[in-house]
Amino acid sequence: MKSMDKIVSLCKRRGYLFQSSEIYGGIQGFWDYGPLGVELKRNLKDAWWHDMIGGHNELIQPQTAPSTFEMVGLDSTIIMHPQVWKCSGHYDLFHDHMVDCRESKKRYRFDQIRGRWVEYQDKKVFVTTLAEAEQELDEVRRRGMKFFKLRNKDADKIAVGNESLTLDKLDSTVDVLAPDAKSLDTLTEPREFNLMFKTTLGALGGADDTTFLRPETAQGIFVNFKNVLDSSRISLPFGIGQVGKSFRNEITPRNFTFRSREFEQMEIEFFCHPDQSQEWYRYWRDRRLEWYKSLGLSDESLIMREHHQEELAHYSVGTADIEYAFPFLPEGEYGELEGIAHRGDFDLRSHMEGKLDPSTRPMQVELGEDGKPKYRGSGRDLTYRDEATNEKFVPHVVEPSAGADRAVLAFLCEAFTEDEAPDENGKLQSRTVMKLHPRLAPIKAAVFPLVKKDGMPEVAHEIYGELKRHMNVFYDEKGAVGRRYRRQDEAGTPYCITVDTETLTDKTVTIRDRDTLEQSRVKIDDVVAELQSRINA
Ligand code: GAP
Repeated sequence: MKSMDKIVSLCKRRGYLFQSSEIYGGIQGFWDYGPLGVELKRNLKDAWWHDMIGGHNELIQPQTAPSTFEMVGLDSTIIMHPQVWKCSGHYDLFHDHMVDCRESKKRYRFDQIRGRWVEYQDKKVFVTTLAEAEQELDEVRRRGMKFFKLRNKDADKIAVGNESLTLDKLDSTVDVLAPDAKSLDTLTEPREFNLMFKTTLGALGGADDTTFLRPETAQGIFVNFKNVLDSSRISLPFGIGQVGKSFRNEITPRNFTFRSREFEQMEIEFFCHPDQSQEWYRYWRDRRLEWYKSLGLSDESLIMREHHQEELAHYSVGTADIEYAFPFLPEGEYGELEGIAHRGDFDLRSHMEGKLDPSTRPMQVELGEDGKPKYRGSGRDLTYRDEATNEKFVPHVVEPSAGADRAVLAFLCEAFTEDEAPDENGKLQSRTVMKLHPRLAPIKAAVFPLVKKDGMPEVAHEIYGELKRHMNVFYDEKGAVGRRYRRQDEAGTPYCITVDTETLTDKTVTIRDRDTLEQSRVKIDDVVAELQSRINA
């Protein structure tokens, strides 16, 4: 099992991830990406965009898809008309309900999908700042837990117990082991939380000016369905993809970036004929799983979990989650990376007619107490007319919805490796290496002169300048070459190019492969092409 502590610590040390507002003690559920992290996340989003949207036509394997189809992109706003959230169901349904058990002091939240109270399971919580650790201890005290354990790498520096906490080291782990729930009879009154962040439009701030930061990018796509259809003269089946920030006021942001309050999603809404929607659902489910594998997540750490009937959202015919064995989870447990949902015609019909009532079959517009539609829809015609058959219908939607931050976290966890590599004297030394796929790696290559003399730095600078025009590269001439390799291994750089004495005579350099440690000689003139072919192999 990989150590989450070590991964969190490497992320901070090497500039992948920092806690937001850290100098003020941090703010829970918000994370900043440092110089390496921002490149990694950008590469991940670019890979998604290229493979799903931009490069779709060259990548698509018609033999595996039910038919040919088009993909286009969109960039809609974070703040939208308040009616969007009423018709989408988020205003009424995107709630967490919390209760506390007076007896066991356990906290439960109402799971909308399962329709029952489920316990917050905080078996293992990772904290990265003292402030976070203190918050955890407060929670432990509040619940009156009998047994809990705090530990970090330097265990003797921590005082364990309800009375005191001395944590003078970051990157600590808090294990909270709660006693089992006794009964649900002694629950406090439910408190309701809408997970959407409220905000106010304009200066006056009346009730009508209240709107929300979007909790998903999907609704921006649904409300633009007709615009895209009319402006691009596209025909069914087709998909619209969008990458962007979403916000949820999570009650328990946890496990590093896994559950954050501000995060990025990469979503596709795929519109098709209702008769073909099951086939498309299966297609997208399988294609999305393959995508994670193609970028390096291993078979053993990924599972596809089909939701049981009782777990399905009210409008959904089928939903599958792609899940990853994150190291902060107990052995054998997986955390959601992406959901692929069959959403039927729920969203388009709701935005057309008004919010649908999930308890009616077939779904009707939900009525308020006065018997009138609870929320007005847009009244716009969001149907599709098939030009060949003249059939008019509301398309069904298959939605592969991925989280960029969760994917980054999974790739970081997968890449983290501790092994041994020979130093410049051939002696084996332990090393930490981030085995990121070359497409995702923040720095594609590092260029080193073997020594800082004999004209080597000048040649190395020239190679660096040429490579920089094509990819993100790094120049380093400080210290022993073995140490320079180690630093790049930790940063996940797949290739190191070294200029040595031979370079000065035959104009070749060595390219060292991070994972196999193989070194091959390549002509300086061929370095760009060689790296490009290795990165895109
Ligand atoms: N439009 C459908 C939708 O938003 P979701 O399952 O709520 O579905 C999709 O979210 C994906 O977004 C998740 O699989 C996850 O990767 C990511 N995600 C959701 N909530 C998140 C959070 N609080 N922090 C980080 N990522 C989150």
